[in-house]
Amino acid sequence: MKTMLEIRGLHAFYGQSHVLHGVDLDVRQGEIVSLLGRNGAGRSSTLKAVMGMLRSSGSVRFKGVELIGRKIFQIARHGLAYVPEERAVFPTLTVQQNLLLGQQRERVAIEDMWQLMPQLAARKHVAAGLLSGGEQQMLSLCRSLMGKPQLIMVDEPTEGLAPHMVQAVAQHLLALRAQGLGVLLVEQKLDIALEISDRVLVMGHGRIVFAGTPHELRANPAVRQKWLEV
Ligand SMILES: Nc1ncnc2c1ncn2[C@@H]1O[C@H](COP(=O)(O)OP(=O)(O)O)[C@@H](O)[C@H]1O
Ligand SMILES: [Mg+2]
Repeated sequence: MKTMLEIRGLHAFYGQSHVLHGVDLDVRQGEIVSLLGRNGAGRSSTLKAVMGMLRSSGSVRFKGVELIGRKIFQIARHGLAYVPEERAVFPTLTVQQNLLLGQQRERVAIEDMWQLMPQLAARKHVAAGLLSGGEQQMLSLCRSLMGKPQLIMVDEPTEGLAPHMVQAVAQHLLALRAQGLGVLLVEQKLDIALEISDRVLVMGHGRIVFAGTPHELRANPAVRQKWLEV
């Protein structure tokens, strides 16, 4: 499958603080790539740097176009969606209104979204603030899909969710992959990441310290112990 996102030698900074030290990463069409690591490893910063939210250097190419130096809204229009860790739903707006806010120039019919997420369809006129944490996470994901992205970056979507909702999020990501989207997933839950990913990358201290298949990571207790287990 075609490579969509190509990150080479990415460095990123919060003010004077240098947090990414030459990250290389690819995401192809129709694959789920997970970024794993302990807290502070640099996973969220990688997603933010791709979205143009951090000062960065190196190269981030999406469908061949260099994104470094572009503004957030320009990057989003290229078909790259980002679902941050903080579930950003507007609590007083209805589910439907929240979804409509996600529309870009390229539009997805809202009916397609209801089909993808029947639980949300049943509650389309409910204020988003009244949804459960899991439902808000789904809404956040669905809103980012309204702009018809080709690649979606999702930061810890299962954080704080009940086990059945964790499975629902995982199934949802697999459904997106089946539609040909690329998914770059930051995940804390190793079992879920290993279950749904095509490839996994482990980060430590702002660098990629392991890259391989879920099978290769399962077979590598040294990497898990050094970089993942607490
Ligand atoms: N807003 C911020 N200002 C300054 N430093 C930050 C900020 N957010 C994260 N960092 C630092 O950047 C590094 C990487 O953090 P982060 O990308 O959030 O890691 P992860 O998502 O893997 O837990 C850490 O050293 C963290 O302390
Ligand atoms: Mg993070």
